[in-house]
Amino acid sequence: TPSDFRDILSFTTQLARAAGDLILEGSDAILASGSVDEKKNSVDLVTEYDVKVEELVKETIRKSYPTFKFIGEESYAAGSRAPLTDEPTFCVDPIDGTTNFVHGFPHVCVSIGLIYKKRPVLGVVFNPFLDQMYTAIQGQGAHLTRKNGQHRAQLPLAKPKHLDSLSKGLLAIEWGSDRSGPIIDAKAESFKRLAGDPTAGVQKGQMAHSLRALGSAALNFCMVAQGGLDLYWEIGCWPWDVCAGAIIAQEAGCFVAGSKTSPLDNIVTEEVLTGRKYIVIRAMGGIEGETGVETQKRL
Ligand code: IPD
Repeated sequence: TPSDFRDILSFTTQLARAAGDLILEGSDAILASGSVDEKKNSVDLVTEYDVKVEELVKETIRKSYPTFKFIGEESYAAGSRAPLTDEPTFCVDPIDGTTNFVHGFPHVCVSIGLIYKKRPVLGVVFNPFLDQMYTAIQGQGAHLTRKNGQHRAQLPLAKPKHLDSLSKGLLAIEWGSDRSGPIIDAKAESFKRLAGDPTAGVQKGQMAHSLRALGSAALNFCMVAQGGLDLYWEIGCWPWDVCAGAIIAQEAGCFVAGSKTSPLDNIVTEEVLTGRKYIVIRAMGGIEGETGVETQKRL
């Protein structure tokens, strides 16, 4: 019920703040020691804090919502790979933007989504460095709570802004962690088509104002929801990267598209530019018509 969702949201925002404290503690520890504990490879970093934050989040959820299922980035990496069912399922990225975290680039968040009947229904994304809390419940809108002097102020994220063409947009892309030959070629080609000079051979009208990469999928979604970006496109995200961000963006009036086969997708794409407030293209969507970007299935 709506009041159950509000209780879960209040629990989840508190949990996100506790996770945020641990992320800040980890960041201080990295700064103080100048070293990072562990890595998968040079572009796909995992620190001890990714694991610690996920343990905190998972354990706190287990105590309050023992029957809910759990999908988390680090649990998945450690082999705990529960299939997605119709049951309520928390979907968590303990540190989204791990590379930023390691480098002290302050676009880092904890991302906690709730999936019900295979759809994201509630999302919380918290950046503790900037004290920005993005929240949404299905059907109840999206909000940003941020520091305003000594106080925190909550703003609804729903002001319509029509984008008639990608050429007027500020667009987010990501390099992601897969930089192997064909993948990096597809990404680079897409970036060129989104932002290249039309007079240099890219179809007229498709040169965006510029490209940005915040280094966190969840924060890219939220920045589109907030209106600071007009589109986010990426090849190859995981469910925990996108679950909370997708519901926040949708509740802010954004258009979220992706692969037809993923349970987190809800829409596919011809309408991409028609009358929507913003566009969020989550991972590998089929948006060739407008953008000419390359696409690839991953989830
Ligand atoms: C990554 C970040 C990055 C995106 C990758 C994600 P992580 O998540 O969101 O911006 O490009 O696709 O996997 O590894 O920092 O949790």
